[in-house]
Parts: sequence; C-alpha cells; structure tokens
Amino acid sequence: MRSLLFVPGDSVRKLEKALASQADALLIDLEDSVSLGAKDEARAITAAFLQEHVTSHGRPRLFVRVNGLQTGLIDADLDRIMPAVPDGVVLPKAVGGTDVAQLAARLSMREEGAGLAGTRILAIATENAAGVFALGTFAGCSDRLVGLAWGGEDLSADIGAASNRTDSGAYADPYLLARTLTLLGAASAGVAAIDAVYTNFRDMQGLDAECREARRDGFVGKMAIHPAQVPIINAAFAPTPEEIARARAVVAAFADNPGAGVVGVDGEMLDRPHLLRAERLLARAGEGN
Ligand code: COA
Ligand code: MG
Repeated sequence: MRSLLFVPGDSVRKLEKALASQADALLIDLEDSVSLGAKDEARAITAAFLQEHVTSHGRPRLFVRVNGLQTGLIDADLDRIMPAVPDGVVLPKAVGGTDVAQLAARLSMREEGAGLAGTRILAIATENAAGVFALGTFAGCSDRLVGLAWGGEDLSADIGAASNRTDSGAYADPYLLARTLTLLGAASAGVAAIDAVYTNFRDMQGLDAECREARRDGFVGKMAIHPAQVPIINAAFAPTPEEIARARAVVAAFADNPGAGVVGVDGEMLDRPHLLRAERLLARAGEGN
C-alpha cells in the first residue's frame, strides 16, 4: 500500500470522493476527525459504506480507524463495523505489541460470531511517549499486523510541545526519533513501515520531498488527508522503470551464478543484501516471487 487516505467516517460526500481518489487504501476514521456526538452516526455511515462496496471490483482496501483501546468506545465501533467486513482496522494510540494482541482478540471474537477471518491490523504506533518506547515489541504480536505507521501530531500533544517542526520546517528531534524507531520496529516485526501524514495539504512540493525522503529510508507508503495528496504519494512510492530494470539485472546476475555469494554488475560489487533489496523492490512492483 503506497497511499492510505484518511476520510472522516461521518461524511458520505468525502467517502464517495475518496473512493474515486486512486488511493491504495482508505482509512475511514471514527476517531479524531469525528466529534463525540457524531460517533454513532459515523459508525452507521461507515458500516453502510463498507457493505455497499465490499464486493466492488478494483476498489481501494477499506480500513476503519476505530477509537483507542482506552476510550471506552472501541467495542461499539467494532460491533457496528465488523459485520460489514472491513479489510482491516487501524489502531490509534497503540502502545506496543500487547495492544495489537488485545485488538486481535477482539477481532477474533467478532469474526467467529460472523464466520469471518483474517481482518488486518495497521497500528499507529507513536502517538504518545509510551508508544515510542514500545516500538521494539511488535514482532510476533499477531499475524494480523500488516504495518506500523508513525505520526507527529498526537505525539507533540502528549509531550506538550509548542510545535513538532523547527523554524526551517523540518521535524524536530523527538519526531525524528519516533520516525526512525518506527522504521526499525516495522523491519524487526516484518511488516510495512508507513510514513506520517503531511498536514499542509496545499503544499505539494513539500509533500513530494517528504515522500522521497521516506521512500529512501525504507518506508513503503504514506498516509494522506486530502485526495490531492494521493497521486503525489503514489508516484513517489512506485518503483521507477530504471529501478525495476536494475533490480531485474541484480536478480539475474545471481541466478546466472548459482552458489555465488558475490557478483559484479556494471562495475559494482553486489552481495546478499543487494539481492534482498532487489527482490523486495520487484515484489513491490508486483513481479516478485
Ligand atoms: N477524503 C475525501 N474527500 C476529501 C477529503 C478526504 N480526506 N478531503 C477533502 N475532500 C474533498 C472535499 O470534500 C472537497 O469536495 P467538495 O468540494 O466536492 O465538497 C474537495 O475534496 C476539496 O476539498 P478542499 O476544499 O480542498 O478541502 P476542505 O477544506 O473541504 O477539507 C480537510 C479539508 C482537512 C477538512 C479535509 O481534507 C479532511 O477532512 N481531511 C481528512 C481529515 C482526517 O480524516 N483526519 C484524521 C487523520 S489525521
Ligand atoms: Mg490523532
């Protein structure tokens, strides 16, 4: 999943717009973008939307961001949406693998009742300081877990910061730490690392630059808050034809030299990590093994 577009779950209009956005996944929100008084209505709208589109062909994956485990709202969220069969659930304010395991247990209960299986989990894992300290605990927590996302907005509120950016616009240190630990936590758990939203939704250049840095560092996708961000994210995270050609050449060089630990391609030494990287890139481009 390259682009994951947030859509407030109480807005029929935005849900329809989001469906046409080319996003790889929609993150239909029942949490922060829906006021307390509108939660019930949002649950109903979201469930109806899921039901309507569950069998649609070529649609984005449909994830629902429920309210956090500590809110007292999550069970009502799950009761309402699980019968409508979302592809996955987004867990906000996740604190480590134990929180994911807790959500997984709640999903299992509801799946058993409805004859379902395999609802995925995407955890937003850096929304408070405790979450940042728990980033190394996701390995093995649940085979439902497909990704870890980080975010700098709720974290700055938890810390009590005036801003999460420096005067030059770059993320300040605590958020860079959270970002880096998310990458490492996701890699150690064997799941996708997803970059934070870019909140300035009119600044396409800034978004593009942030996407490219994220991709360089190993993130495979980025969350969006506005449909206009989706094509930029999709383009930035899609492997280029040159990258695909290069990866094919690396894989072919190893295939031509069975048993070789190291080969030379275009004057460059390549060993096992290069092969793994090439195979991953091809898998993302849809031609992996
Ligand atoms: N999904 C689907 N459609 C969206 C959208 C989204 N995330 N954001 C904007 N749109 C639609 C608008 O409804 C509008 O359509 P319309 O003119 O037919 O009504 C169109 O895209 C252009 O929107 P624009 O005027 O540029 O922005 P806005 O002021 O209407 O909305 C936000 C700005 C931030 C309120 C809106 O982008 C949004 O709701 N984002 C998601 C917020 C969210 O889910 N946050 C939680 C995670 S951090
Ligand atoms: Mg939030």
